Amino acid sequence: MDSVSAARSAPLPMVEANFDRLADYAFDSSHVLVIAESELDGPLGFALMLDALPDEVSGLAQGFIAYMAVEPDARRRGVANALLAAAETAARERRLPHVALMVTEDNTAARELYAAAGYVTERRLLCKTL
Ligand SMILES: CC(C)(COP(=O)(O)OP(=O)(O)OC[C@H]1O[C@@H](n2cnc3c(N)ncnc32)[C@H](O)[C@@H]1OP(=O)(O)O)[C@@H](O)C(=O)NCCC(=O)NCCS
Repeated sequence: MDSVSAARSAPLPMVEANFDRLADYAFDSSHVLVIAESELDGPLGFALMLDALPDEVSGLAQGFIAYMAVEPDARRRGVANALLAAAETAARERRLPHVALMVTEDNTAARELYAAAGYVTERRLLCKTL
């Protein structure tokens, strides 16, 4: 729900079902899955990057981070930064010139994370309630 903006009121079950649908699409596509684990606590977070989905406007190759999340108890310990760095390394290994992703305007934590990691705003997705 961190990625649902205040511009749309969506019920949790609908968002969950949509997440499953998009996750199925991502796992059926060429992708890189990065998982952060601690020996003590097990899985802490993951990033799923599509590596064969060019930018829809320019056609340039890119790594597209479709999902990234860190367990609530593991946040603010640098896990997302480590996941992002690992995804970028995988993109460089594949000679992809860019890494891109979408982030919801209301998601302050994610926006701060990406801005601090050097990501710039490339386009804006606008929405009007009718
Ligand atoms: C966004 C998210 C992935 C960040 O994970 P994290 O492991 O806590 O992030 P990190 O500890 O690596 O933080 C790196 C930097 O991001 C920024 N940041 C992270 N969480 C923040 C918060 N709650 N508020 C403000 N800045 C934040 C900070 O600049 C932070 O550096 P600092 O701790 O030195 O200040 C995590 O909050 C999350 O899983 N949220 C729910 C799912 C989600 O929104 N995914 C992203 C979808 S685009």
